[in-house]
Amino acid sequence: MKPVLHVIVCSTRPHRVGSPVGQWAHRVALAHGGFDVQLVELADVGLPLFDEPEHPKSGNYQHAHTRRWSQQVDGADAFVFVMPEYNYGPPPSWLNAMTYLVREWHYKPAAFVSYGGVGGGMRAVQVAKQLLTTFKVVPLLEAVAIPWVARRIVDGAFEATPEEGVACEAMLKELLRWAEVLPALRSSGSASRQEAAPALVR
Ligand SMILES: Cc1cc2nc3c(=O)[nH]c(=O)nc-3n(C[C@H](O)[C@H](O)[C@H](O)COP(=O)(O)O)c2cc1C
Repeated sequence: MKPVLHVIVCSTRPHRVGSPVGQWAHRVALAHGGFDVQLVELADVGLPLFDEPEHPKSGNYQHAHTRRWSQQVDGADAFVFVMPEYNYGPPPSWLNAMTYLVREWHYKPAAFVSYGGVGGGMRAVQVAKQLLTTFKVVPLLEAVAIPWVARRIVDGAFEATPEEGVACEAMLKELLRWAEVLPALRSSGSASRQEAAPALVR
């Protein structure tokens, strides 16, 4: 069975550029052939601002939207976050979606297709990587960064350069390597996964 890859469009803004960029990343991932690929729009997941009464490490979710999101993320082995840069950081919709869960993210690799103005979303990625380590997600070096993204949307579709295509393939190749080995850590005892929250930081 192939590892399951979620290509997650992190922007929830109406008319978001994230959708055509995500559709492109989804197509490249399908063509790569190593994953069972799903395109996920956080806008469709439809999470409200974090509203669980208990710390998510308990897994004791009160809301149906959290249980649905938990099940969805549980089913993934790897992630590509399609990430815009907002105020030199990741969009709040992404951090909100991350915050809902703990265990479901553990020991899974993640890569980024980022976009924005001059920085191609790279400042957002640097901030996101630091946060991801708290979720025991392994963020990868290999990435696609798309500067001046608005100029690259033609008739509603993202037009990638050959270099971006090559970068995306290299990223997926590395993501697959991690996706194949990290399940060993996930299955090495549920106890160790629950130990994820040292008292000092939680
Ligand atoms: C609230 C907000 C903050 C932004 N901040 C940045 C920024 O810090 N750096 C940048 O390169 N672009 C920034 N932009 C421009 C976005 O990169 C651009 O609007 C992009 O299309 C947003 O992605 P989306 O359409 O998928 O939401 C910002 C846009 C918004 C709406």
